[in-house]
Amino acid sequence: MSMEGVLRLYFGESNMATPDYIKRAAVQALADGFTFYTENAGLPSLRRAIAAHYQRWHGVALDARSEIVITASGVQALNVSIRAVLDPGDEALILTPAWPNGSSIVSMANALPRQVPQVLLGGRYAIDFGALQASLTPRTRLLLYTSPSNPLGWVATESEQQQLLDFCRQHGLWLLADEVYDRLYYSGAKLGSVVPSILRKATRDDAVIVVQSFSKAYCMTGWRVGWLVARSDLGLKATQLNEFIISHAPSFAQKAAETALAEGEEELVSMLRRLKENRDLCLSALRQMPGVTVPEPDGAFYLFPKIDGLRDSFDFCRRLLLATKVGLAPGVAFGVGGEGSVRICYAAERGILEPALERLAKFLRSPSER
Ligand SMILES: Cc1ncc(COP(=O)(O)O)c(C=O)c1O
Repeated sequence: MSMEGVLRLYFGESNMATPDYIKRAAVQALADGFTFYTENAGLPSLRRAIAAHYQRWHGVALDARSEIVITASGVQALNVSIRAVLDPGDEALILTPAWPNGSSIVSMANALPRQVPQVLLGGRYAIDFGALQASLTPRTRLLLYTSPSNPLGWVATESEQQQLLDFCRQHGLWLLADEVYDRLYYSGAKLGSVVPSILRKATRDDAVIVVQSFSKAYCMTGWRVGWLVARSDLGLKATQLNEFIISHAPSFAQKAAETALAEGEEELVSMLRRLKENRDLCLSALRQMPGVTVPEPDGAFYLFPKIDGLRDSFDFCRRLLLATKVGLAPGVAFGVGGEGSVRICYAAERGILEPALERLAKFLRSPSER
């Protein structure tokens, strides 16, 4: 972090600033007096806007009062969901490689994360249901998966979603779907198509929770606004927990988030165009590098290339950084199944991506650097 001149591709955010129309909405909200506490479940108007969003994009009718809870970020939505569901000593199945916070929050709840790696089959990541079954114990209460995935870029197919839901129904588990990257999707009918939510498959009585955020789709990482959708009894518990953790997301940021949902489509599509070009640029460069295998990701803004013979991705990233000033995230940080790979975030400018890829290629071509 303190080294100068680093080409930083290890971050989990775009280098694009929050669009002006959202900033203006926040300023207006401050002027309009959104400086007081809101309900613990968030502003009713934002919850209604989110309900309308699910109706519009997924054809799913939600009760804004009981099934939607605004949180101060996606990570807080994960935190509240996991804490509401797990008792100390319980266990959670987590599909990995994954953003590590899910596993860490499970541990913080004095529960046990059991990481089940996704497997690369025919150029695509798949879910190993046999391994999930084998990891079940009488204390298993929860299954967490992320689609689109950070770091894989993998997007669950409808059939995989159905199988995950069936598995959880059969074993009495909560299914927690992290859908924070659902708008960053490159394989839909057109750019701007949303990844189908698990909520389309689940009934409102299913033990299903969806975690969401304004961070990624609207370049609002620093604003800390997210939400969760859950069965109404869990929604109530999450609302109560909110009180003791942070009470609610900042009032004016919630109001600005409402504007993001209402007016964000055009900016979102232009960001997606740029991200898709970046993805393709990186994919074709990586595929020419010796010993590198990289499946084409359908969503999010990461690539997770596997490097032949790589046994210590942390050491590799450290050496790459010192030798070339290219900063990548080591695959081992993403849990079981992550070692042997590195994560590249391609939500950066061409002026950073292009030299970074050139330096990586050169580094990999030098046999002593492997
Ligand atoms: C998979 C995943 N879930 C949740 C989050 C949380 O995002 P935020 O807390 O900024 O809403 C992130 C951020 O990187 C993420 O990658």
